[in-house]
Amino acid sequence: MSSPRILSSALLARVCSADQAASFIQPDMTVAMSGFTGAGYPKAVPGALAGHIEAAHARGEAFRINVLTGASTAPELDGVLARANGITMRLPYQSDPLLRDKINAGEMEYLDLHLSHVAQHAWFGFFGKIDVAIVEVSGIREDGLLIPSSSVGNNKTWLELADKVILEVNSRQPAGLDGMHDIYYGTALPPHRVPIPLLTPGDRIGEAYLRCDPDKIVAIVETDAPDRSNSFSPPDATSRQIAGHLIEFLRHEVAHGRLPAGLLPLQSGVGNITNAVLAELAEAGFKGLTAFTEVIQDAMLDLLENGTLSVASATALSLSPPATLRFAEEIDRLRERIVLRPQEISNHPELVRRLGCIAMNGMIEADIYGNVNSTHVMGSRIQNGIGGSGDFARNGYLACFMSASTAKGGDISRIVPMASHVDHTEHDVSVIVTEQGLADLRGLSPKQRARQVIANCAHPDYRPLLEDYFQRACSNSFGKHTPHLLDESLAWHERYIRTGSMKP
Ligand code: COA
Repeated sequence: MSSPRILSSALLARVCSADQAASFIQPDMTVAMSGFTGAGYPKAVPGALAGHIEAAHARGEAFRINVLTGASTAPELDGVLARANGITMRLPYQSDPLLRDKINAGEMEYLDLHLSHVAQHAWFGFFGKIDVAIVEVSGIREDGLLIPSSSVGNNKTWLELADKVILEVNSRQPAGLDGMHDIYYGTALPPHRVPIPLLTPGDRIGEAYLRCDPDKIVAIVETDAPDRSNSFSPPDATSRQIAGHLIEFLRHEVAHGRLPAGLLPLQSGVGNITNAVLAELAEAGFKGLTAFTEVIQDAMLDLLENGTLSVASATALSLSPPATLRFAEEIDRLRERIVLRPQEISNHPELVRRLGCIAMNGMIEADIYGNVNSTHVMGSRIQNGIGGSGDFARNGYLACFMSASTAKGGDISRIVPMASHVDHTEHDVSVIVTEQGLADLRGLSPKQRARQVIANCAHPDYRPLLEDYFQRACSNSFGKHTPHLLDESLAWHERYIRTGSMKP
């Protein structure tokens, strides 16, 4: 038996089927898997495991596991395990529709965490023992070192902490990924921590490969399957307007000396709006930019290719199928300019603060005082999770949140009197942008912020209602610092749930 991707003869002997590998997983185990925004997740073993779980359920036996990953995965992982009712607890981020429905139906538990915290919380022991790690790699070297895949996520930690390791070696991942990763082994638990020696986004401070004790590797499964990457729609008018407002603001900041001409390292969340902002940056003539971010999406690849971006640091690639092909073709030219790191480093608060990142993320809603809800529809239904937005917003130089001013055909205002759930407090939000305009909240008191947010960001259908709320709150609130009418502040949400519209 030989495989061009498995060069260690000792480990080659552990190649088996996905079904055999899945049999190492027993009910109630905690299983830590690779995967970050649809990249680098195991593609075969979760499906085989779902089969074992369904068979156990058919026999009337209980079989559920706890699933930890880097971030969101794909139907081949979250989808199949959710369909099999196989998950007790899922963390730290998801975006699978089926899984989301199970969480919101109360059929399973979900722990939504800052992505930079996951590895350290695992080391602190907050998640209990990790029984098995299932990690996709793009190859195994002769010396047993693992060539990481299209995402790094928490793989270093999973490989170190798990009792047993199952590897999936995916030959569809470009061989040229070899050398693109930077795995930092210098983290320690308090009180033994030392500064992370990273001073610019492109610094390489670790090793190109993942280490793993070969004695822990119980199974290796060979796969040849693509990542389930995102497809982006071309920017629509709303995204372009939002991008336009943000770019005008950045230009203004450069003109006033608060940002250098090459800006500061960009962090960009995944999605059509943030993708549109990146696309517009190139057209706006910015040059010599850098990115210290979580995920490299299509528009960031464009910026690297056209020279707008000199270097990008992330923990995962999240590319559409056409961009994946382009990436593979140009990988030799891109390898020096892309650094893929563990998510505890790509999102590390120490580094985000040191580098002064410009954080640009989507939101569900914001309130007039600048509190941002990134995660919960109507305060109670999880959408995806906080992801890295808090890592970057809380610690960056600028925290920008953007969305259309309304949702669901105008029945919902995304600017509301009081956020129905708060992920980013008024203290962590610098700028709010909708297609209506931009509110620069820096240096403003709550009432000053409210006037900006209502005037600049609210949709005209809702602006008079917000003005009315704010004026009455200013007159009648118990306290006049952050005026609210508590019996009305969440009435818009309640009205939507009751009538299908926030409009009176
Ligand atoms: N009330 C009800 N539904 C809302 C809503 C609101 N205030 N805001 C958005 N929605 C719904 C939309 O209608 C849409 O539903 P649909 O899929 O049924 O059409 C869905 O939520 C997504 O909204 P959309 O406007 O398409 O947003 P998006 O794709 O730009 O994503 C977030 C916005 C907030 C969900 C997304 O940015 C996110 O998950 N953020 C948190 C994580 C993060 O920031 N990660 C990056 C950090 S590195």
